[in-house]
Amino acid sequence: MTTSRLLIVSNRLPVTVSSDGGEFTVSPSAGGLATGLKGPHEQSGGLWIGWPGDVGNLDDAQRASLDEKLAELRTVPLYLDQEEASRFYEGYSNGLLWPLFHSLVDRIPLESRDWEVYRSVNQRFADLTVAHYRPGDTIWVQDYQLMLVPGMLRERLPSATIGFFLHIPFPSSETFRVLPRRQEILTGLLGADLIGFHTFAYLDLFTRSLMRLLGVEAEVDRVRYAGRNLRLGVFPMGIDAARFSSVSSSPEIIAASAAIRERIAPLRILLGVDRMDYTKGIPRRFLAFERLLEKEPELRGKVEFVQVAVPSRTSVDAYVALKQQVDELVGRINGQYGTITWTPIRYLYRSIPEAQLITLYRAADVMLVTPVRDGLNLVAKEFIASRVDDDGVLVLSELAGAASELGESLRVNPYDIDATAEAMATALALSPEDRKARMSALRRRVHAHDVHQWVAHFLRALDDAATQREPVG
Ligand code: UDP
Ligand code: G6P
Repeated sequence: MTTSRLLIVSNRLPVTVSSDGGEFTVSPSAGGLATGLKGPHEQSGGLWIGWPGDVGNLDDAQRASLDEKLAELRTVPLYLDQEEASRFYEGYSNGLLWPLFHSLVDRIPLESRDWEVYRSVNQRFADLTVAHYRPGDTIWVQDYQLMLVPGMLRERLPSATIGFFLHIPFPSSETFRVLPRRQEILTGLLGADLIGFHTFAYLDLFTRSLMRLLGVEAEVDRVRYAGRNLRLGVFPMGIDAARFSSVSSSPEIIAASAAIRERIAPLRILLGVDRMDYTKGIPRRFLAFERLLEKEPELRGKVEFVQVAVPSRTSVDAYVALKQQVDELVGRINGQYGTITWTPIRYLYRSIPEAQLITLYRAADVMLVTPVRDGLNLVAKEFIASRVDDDGVLVLSELAGAASELGESLRVNPYDIDATAEAMATALALSPEDRKARMSALRRRVHAHDVHQWVAHFLRALDDAATQREPVG
């Protein structure tokens, strides 16, 4: 038996480095990909190749010392220069692909000239992966920033086991065809042995694009391309549910969440936790909260909305505009409804440590997860896993990938402000028995399909796919 290592390849490493006068600060990265795969990486003994964030200009000695620090975490940095960060990361990946894959076509730029840089950075990722590859390793490429990498790797390592997972939605072929380089993206992905999606709907849309744009016909979960057999699969990502439950059961967290509730009592807490991203539906969520206060005056002074908005992609114009819109909305609602003793929305624009996050999950009465489109949404699952008390209500957007798994949540159309306001009212009014019945069913599911099972399931399917790559006969 060869000793097979897992090489995870993603744009963002699980840690982000910032430097101040040559001093490095290494902090956990935000976002579901990084938080979700962190545990499996720690257990796998393999490597994680990715970007550590904007580390500024380092001299050779500083870079060597940072490389060493990252090597201790078995992470291999790929540094992006300023042009690459601006054109590959901000431009092509987050200015163009992100809105397009979330079906928000009106947000794509009039013109994009960043394709060449997207391609060349993908090539750098592929080259660095090849440099670290040993025969027998399993390579697992992640997400929309690196869709050309599987094809580039296949050229250099024809018999390597290569998986790809898309953490965001795949759009309809009518939307996807808008992308000028649609063929290259599809053929890049087809370099993998297995391509995974969070939901069957995304897989189905992908196969339609394959048919319409490449003329390649897939059978439900398999496709032949360039003389190889490939697999397609549905793997809704999980979280480390046992860890969330155990942290949430610790005496410190129990005491901290009780303290929050006592301080806020008798107010009831509505909670939102998101990266500050226009896909997350934060402005419409606040409009729904405003509608709730307008329509149900008896709730004024009785509820508080706590929103954690984690700064994200702050150099991309659309994110700057969103921050301004959210700031203004919070100001307007607090100005209109607030009193000397009551602030309707408590708004934190920063990332918070995990213990504080779990404390908030535990303290909340109602969790609002209302994206206008979301690949899956791990926050919803983290909230559930943290509710060891079997209490709390999840209001969940129909347009989050997780909606297909979390049937006992209160489902809403996030574009329908009235319906979202009503769902908030319904959630606040649910009986303790109803809350418990829903939450315990949700908890069972989140525990049964956790991130370790997700990784094992994907890697097993990948192994199978790789053994059947060559056509028989
Ligand atoms: N999160 C974080 N820092 C915070 C608050 C939350 O890293 O201050 C995490 C959160 O725990 C979750 C992830 O960010 O694991 C968000 O993942 P999700 O799938 O919900 O959305 P994404 O950000 O990936 O679009
Ligand atoms: C989403 C994407 C990830 C990305 C994360 C954070 O979860 O699917 O690929 O890493 O957002 O975004 P960032 O641009 O900071 O990496």
